[in-house]
Amino acid sequence: MCDTCKKTFYITTPIYYPSAKLHIGHTYCTVASDAMARYKRLQGYDVMFLTGTDEHGQKIEEKAKAAGVTPQQFVDNIVTGEKGVLDLWKLMNISNDRFIRTTDDYHVAAIQRIFRRMYENGDIYKGSYKGKYCTPCESFWTESQLKDGKCPDCGGEVHDAEEEAYFFRLSKYASRVRKLLTETDFLEPKSRVNEMVNNFIDPGLEDLCVSRTSFTWGVPVDFDPGHVVYVWIDALFNYMTALGFENDRYHDLEKYWPADVHFVGKEIVRFHSIIWPAMLMSLDLPLPKKVYGHGWLVMDGGKMSKSKGNVVDPYVLAEMFGVDALRFFLLRTFPFGSDGSFSNELLINTINIDLANDLGNLVSRTTAMVEKYFGGTLPETRAAGEFDESLIALVSGLRDRYEAQMEKFQFQNALDEVFKCIQRANKYIDETMPWALAKDEANKPRLAAVMYNLLETIRICTTLLLPFMPDSCEKIFAQIGANADVETWDAAAVWGRLPAAVTVHKGEAVFPRVDAEKALSKLEELHQQQLRSLLPALEIEPYATEKVDFDTFCKSDLRAVKVKACEPVKKSDKLLRFTLDDGTGADRQILSGIHKFYEPEQLVGKTLVAIVNLPPRKMMGLASCGMLLSAVHTEKGEEKLHLIMIDDSIPAGAKLC
Ligand code: MSP
Repeated sequence: MCDTCKKTFYITTPIYYPSAKLHIGHTYCTVASDAMARYKRLQGYDVMFLTGTDEHGQKIEEKAKAAGVTPQQFVDNIVTGEKGVLDLWKLMNISNDRFIRTTDDYHVAAIQRIFRRMYENGDIYKGSYKGKYCTPCESFWTESQLKDGKCPDCGGEVHDAEEEAYFFRLSKYASRVRKLLTETDFLEPKSRVNEMVNNFIDPGLEDLCVSRTSFTWGVPVDFDPGHVVYVWIDALFNYMTALGFENDRYHDLEKYWPADVHFVGKEIVRFHSIIWPAMLMSLDLPLPKKVYGHGWLVMDGGKMSKSKGNVVDPYVLAEMFGVDALRFFLLRTFPFGSDGSFSNELLINTINIDLANDLGNLVSRTTAMVEKYFGGTLPETRAAGEFDESLIALVSGLRDRYEAQMEKFQFQNALDEVFKCIQRANKYIDETMPWALAKDEANKPRLAAVMYNLLETIRICTTLLLPFMPDSCEKIFAQIGANADVETWDAAAVWGRLPAAVTVHKGEAVFPRVDAEKALSKLEELHQQQLRSLLPALEIEPYATEKVDFDTFCKSDLRAVKVKACEPVKKSDKLLRFTLDDGTGADRQILSGIHKFYEPEQLVGKTLVAIVNLPPRKMMGLASCGMLLSAVHTEKGEEKLHLIMIDDSIPAGAKLC
């Protein structure tokens, strides 16, 4: 098909807030969009896949201030810095065609024009806003929308706020938006429609406050200095400015708009299914064909958040298990429309069962057998036999069953169809028993047919796995002697395309088995590190409030002592036994539970401080005559201790006062 006749497909992810490094939850939606984009390309579509970053707003302004940098420097670091958003998408093999940053000049200018257009058509007007404001969500709420007095989105505190502001006539579009949601397939899954209608539209849509004066990090309203455009207006229009709407940077609007689908997380469905269509209606623009509100990846029943220390780092997982395994896991394990409970155990199980056992074994067993029985190249003479028909029938219909699920964004079900074929092929090996056939030369044509059927099954399944695991699938193609360039969507529906005399190249295992115990303990260690990093960097003991009179204080006899010898106390992990010169001519023995902080030999010769008039105490059968002074504090949750060491020129026995 010529390029201009190709059907187009425009898919977007939400644009991410660069307020902190992205975690596995953010990666989930981008991987899903990427799989969709690759699937559509495989089908022959001309795809535009857009992602980006949403860089304005009060939260960013505050974080930048706290970090002592400008908001632009702050977002630049998270977007383009090391292990930033761009690095992450590169690592995860995300094939986006375009990346928009809402701080890009062309976008900022376009947003100003868009705001002005809605002001001029009367849908944006000036008023004054009183309401409950949630700073992290940058959302105003009415009293009735609050949940137990807290923000209904994040559950955080809200505060009273009033400001002169511009409003968008959202109420004007309530009935058109309601119709859109209830009478079309605009919003999916359907469960989200009820949520929107019952919680937001039917209680009454109020006009939306669309400008702010309380901070400056945003797109300025060019006809009213002091106002910046509400971050959601700025953000939502990215889907069109990135194609060239109200700017000259791009010229793809006609080609790709309206979008085929916006993938968005469930908590931002409200913005995409109510506010977004209403604004497009205001400007008389075509509406996107679909908004799909996917579920969240949750941990221990709750949202991932830095403050809970349950944020999962995609860099760590990708490095330990491989990018493709991680991509696959995310879409194989959780139904896209519902929440999914993330765990490392689940990830390792999926890798070991589906990838190492089922797919990996099928590929390595098949290529090993073709090498062993035929020296790597199959003979052209083949003999059909029992069990072939059911395998061939199942695999030949796979592409259509897979397509039916992919069209509904049911990645998990689509993969399930593929894995049914993979499991069937493994069973086919047990049924046909190639090792038994190989014993008799006369069975060679039958053995060749069995091998060919296995290779064909792998070829078709691999083609359909390409959108999920692009690199691994290329490796599998190379191993089974398929040419990745010709393994197209059409070819995936045709049985028997591999050349009769195909040559395999057995290679390394594409999906090595994960040693679960080892991997889990490493991840646990990293998790503990993460938890420690959340603790205050430095913690000191609270100061005593009780006063001590001077005479009492002076009763403590503090002396300089020199360490003559130091050794661990037998059968004790903690105690060190000090032999000290205290200036009296007789050795003084002090026991101190500080072995975890010092090796005894480090301390010999040091000049320390001891309280020498404490009554002697017995520990592990040894008398301790005094106590050594040390400084203590906690660092990242870990106890730290430093013996007080004083200048070696101070003689033993000198009194400290
Ligand atoms: N900036 C807005 C989107 C504007 S789109 C015009 C935003 N950004 S975000 O960075 O907070 O979130 C981006 C996406 O990541 C959202 O769709 C959100 O649902 C998704 N996720 C964040 N944490 C998630 C999980 N734990 N699980 C799944 N998706 C999650 O919202």
